[in-house]
Amino acid sequence: MTAGHLPSTRDLRERIDTAEILSRFHYQERAVVVGCAGWVPAVAKLETKAALARAAWEGALAGEALRERVFELRYPSRLLEAGSGTPIIRVYEGAADAPDATAFLDGLGVLLRALSGDYREFLAAADSLDDGPTIRILKAAARDHERQLGELAGDSGSAWAEEVRRALEALDPPRGQPFELAEQPARDARYFNSSVYWPDIVDPEYPYGEGLALQLRTAVSHLNEVWAVETAGAILHELAEPLGWEFVHDAARWLYDESRHMLMGKRRLDAWGFDPADIPLGAYIYEACRGEDALTRLGMLGHFETKNIGRKRERAQAFRALGDRTSETDMEFDWADETIHAEYGRRWMKRLLEQRGEDPDSWPEVLDRCDELVRRRVAQVTPDERERIRRCADALVLKAEQIAARS
Ligand SMILES: [Fe+2]
Ligand SMILES: [Fe+2]
Repeated sequence: MTAGHLPSTRDLRERIDTAEILSRFHYQERAVVVGCAGWVPAVAKLETKAALARAAWEGALAGEALRERVFELRYPSRLLEAGSGTPIIRVYEGAADAPDATAFLDGLGVLLRALSGDYREFLAAADSLDDGPTIRILKAAARDHERQLGELAGDSGSAWAEEVRRALEALDPPRGQPFELAEQPARDARYFNSSVYWPDIVDPEYPYGEGLALQLRTAVSHLNEVWAVETAGAILHELAEPLGWEFVHDAARWLYDESRHMLMGKRRLDAWGFDPADIPLGAYIYEACRGEDALTRLGMLGHFETKNIGRKRERAQAFRALGDRTSETDMEFDWADETIHAEYGRRWMKRLLEQRGEDPDSWPEVLDRCDELVRRRVAQVTPDERERIRRCADALVLKAEQIAARS
């Protein structure tokens, strides 16, 4: 036997240490996802709702990739636990206990900066041969967080930002007030706010429209998927704990998709040159869920969003016939998302019912209840509100005719 040994050629981070750090990162991402989702209904500006939705989705992608990587590193064990990282994770989770939506964004900026800082630091010490897969995951996540900072970060000097910073340093959760879901969604003041966003919701006689009216109605519908964005945010936040990571991952995509649908409508209306002050922005489906539990909200999202799948193809064809390729293409991409959502709705309603010891096949009863709640909310619309939305819609159709005549 030959004496001695060859020396280490470099210092490398160990596999199990790496798995531990990545587990912590997974839970930090998860906390950001859940916090962003929960605050979607409470922020007013549509672009901010959408930026939170996108951040939640991107965080879920990072969280998923990190989770899989931890399983690889610990193979054959599929162990994912917070372990020694727990105090920092409590800080990230506690950042959702902000006093209000503005403060939440201030604190979120602190978290995103800290997280991308952690990733950059990890990357600086990572070995590209041993741990190339992790490098790719963290580079993408750091880049996402740095972009999100530009879209979302509020005042880094506010009292809540200071509190979150203190919490990070002391590893002691921020002292705020326990998160509460906004039962009444915040509305963007630039728009014409009206619980019901088109007369046909209260008046079946009012035509859905053809040609120009259909283009307009569909864009207003897309914009008004704001309720779906908010509902997806609410259920992600409320059901993350009972349903677990796989639900969080699905719901984050769901949330992001609905925000894209909302922005599709906004983009078309903006491009046609409408003034937001003339465009109705509603809330009645979200309002119908006041005081209801997360199962009902899940039912609402699964039900009212996918109800019209059958019509989407027909509408895409109508837009093509009108030469409106934008509406057509938006509709087709929306339709592709919606078929995924129908599956999400059924799967998670069943899972939740099962978990609650109820019959998983009783989900159609949840949808019946959703129908009933929306009927009840619509029945509360006052004659004044009806008149107001009718005038708004009539004026908008008139404006659309003027725009069409000019082009
Ligand atoms: Fe949608
Ligand atoms: Fe949907």
